Amino acid sequence: MKKEAFEFCQKERIGTTVYAGAKAACQDVAKEIADLIRTRANENREVVLGLATGSTPVGLYRELIRMHTEEGLSFANVVTFNLDEYFGLGGDHPESYRKFMNEQLFSHIDIDPTKAHVPDGTISRDDVFESCQNYEQAIQEAGGIDIQILGIGRTGHIGFNEPGSGPESLTRLVTLDGLTRRDAARDFLGEGNVPRHAITMGVGTILSARKVYLLAWGEGKASIIAKTVEGEPTDNIPATFLQSHKACTFCVDQAAASQLTRISHPWLVGPVEWTTETTRKAILWLARKTGKSLLKLVEEDYNENGMADLLLEQGPAYGLNIRLFNLTQHTITGWPGGKPNADDTSRPERAEPTPKRSLILSPEPLDDVYCLGGTIHRLNTHGNEVAVAYQTSGDLAVPDPEARQAIEMLIDVATSRGHADEEKYGRRLEDDLNTKGNFGFDSENIRHLKGVIRRGEARSSSRTLGLEPIQLKFLNLPFYQKGRYRNFVIRDEDIDTMVNLLNEVEPHQIFATGHGHDPLSVPALCFEVLIRALEKCRETDWLKDCWVWLYRGPGTEWDAHDIDMAVPLSPGELDNKVQGIYQHQTQRSQQPGSSDQRSLNLWNLAREINSGTAEIYDSLGLAEYAAIECFKRHDLG
Ligand code: F6R
Repeated sequence: MKKEAFEFCQKERIGTTVYAGAKAACQDVAKEIADLIRTRANENREVVLGLATGSTPVGLYRELIRMHTEEGLSFANVVTFNLDEYFGLGGDHPESYRKFMNEQLFSHIDIDPTKAHVPDGTISRDDVFESCQNYEQAIQEAGGIDIQILGIGRTGHIGFNEPGSGPESLTRLVTLDGLTRRDAARDFLGEGNVPRHAITMGVGTILSARKVYLLAWGEGKASIIAKTVEGEPTDNIPATFLQSHKACTFCVDQAAASQLTRISHPWLVGPVEWTTETTRKAILWLARKTGKSLLKLVEEDYNENGMADLLLEQGPAYGLNIRLFNLTQHTITGWPGGKPNADDTSRPERAEPTPKRSLILSPEPLDDVYCLGGTIHRLNTHGNEVAVAYQTSGDLAVPDPEARQAIEMLIDVATSRGHADEEKYGRRLEDDLNTKGNFGFDSENIRHLKGVIRRGEARSSSRTLGLEPIQLKFLNLPFYQKGRYRNFVIRDEDIDTMVNLLNEVEPHQIFATGHGHDPLSVPALCFEVLIRALEKCRETDWLKDCWVWLYRGPGTEWDAHDIDMAVPLSPGELDNKVQGIYQHQTQRSQQPGSSDQRSLNLWNLAREINSGTAEIYDSLGLAEYAAIECFKRHDLG
């Protein structure tokens, strides 16, 4: 490791490798596993792997499957032990971890099924203790775990070792944390359906593995990764106990690494090159840390906070303050489509061409109004040609009771007006819903109906923003229609659908999200589809004059230093946006966001986020607005 790299990692208590993306990390870890499997096969010995479920390891499993099918990697000498299982779920339950492992890995490789162990979730309460002891014993009899793969929960859990789990803990029955259950709510189609208990290997079991790789992707994991890697070991964050492991490596993508000191505050751990970007990040951080507005920062503030170099190179403080003040001031515009006939040298968007063709990409209905409802309203009012494209139907997020209500309405209308065919169709839908059980897959007809419900909500929401239904496009990207959470696969047909849309609209500006999200999440997949489609449009004329603006995504917002365009909203515009969000009836119980936002409903959360950004601008000494929506310009390279 290079010397300065070591210097920058001085606060890190666990070896952490930051990869450009999850794919590269998965390839590295898969290679490590494959090498061990091959070496042991040559010695006629077995390899014992500890495996995890969840979104995180899916890319790793796909790479192992690829190695099996394309490179002939055999798993005949492999024994596996999974970390955990929901208590009460049998192996045929769609959300059981046994089923997950069969679908994501075991059924695609030549592992002996009797050697692929997952804790038994159906064991009776009385027998759990003994069954857990047997699991521990089986691991030992197999020779102990050679390589343990882990993901990490936002509570800092590994396996299902929630806060409070000690370093000695072994396989046992545990109660799931509220945040963990909320994170699983999408898979279970509602938080109420998520089991309250699970069987998990203990922290002690995990620490006994000879080698541990913890994987983490996306900005949603950034905070817990920083706390785990740089914080004191504590049973409030069980993953911190990995600090005591001799051979533990964290493999993370850039988004998950973004709150490590070496990335978030590099000037605190070593000399940095004071680029515009680093200077901006550091001074905005300094203002927040000292609680001062930009123009009130003084030499001591810089000197006492690791920024003496900056002062020497580019000081005095007041000059730096003014530069930063102006830079931040210039991010603010009430004209997200550019202000016609205005000097645009210090405006975030160009004045020409005007009006612009503005394409808003919304991974699911709701993301648009939730994240940039005020901006859409402005773009439209200013005469730009606004089109909102819903990339996926969002049908998977419609709870069954809402679908049932719609079916009953359909049947009621049909019977009271004597439309026999429609009534018959309604009865068929009702049947489909009744027979699928609590966690069964929706039939195609039910998925269609749920998509129709979300389209209706999108139409009434966008009407609040002043849009006509003709401005809305429902792409129904096939990856979503053919998949289920964690089982989405992008194909050419998805890219082609997006290419067709882009060539039809020929946008001057695109508003999109998904960059830096968990790679298997719907926004991240939608973003990947966009980037691959733009790549295919390389030769088109319209792309030469097209800017891409990123919005952060529901429940989150850009850090101040990332903001390239800040669009202020009046109190009335904020109320209007909230009305728009409120139209998404089926989503009213969904609460994206962090644990401290748990008590807020969707529309209040949006209100809080946008007014929070306005407060930050105010505290920096800029104008005091009611609310601000913000965007980061994406470099198309
Ligand atoms: C899964 C497990 C959990 C997950 C964690 C992260 O077997 O033990 O600790 O690794 O909840 O889940 P994802 O990967 O879905 O973010």
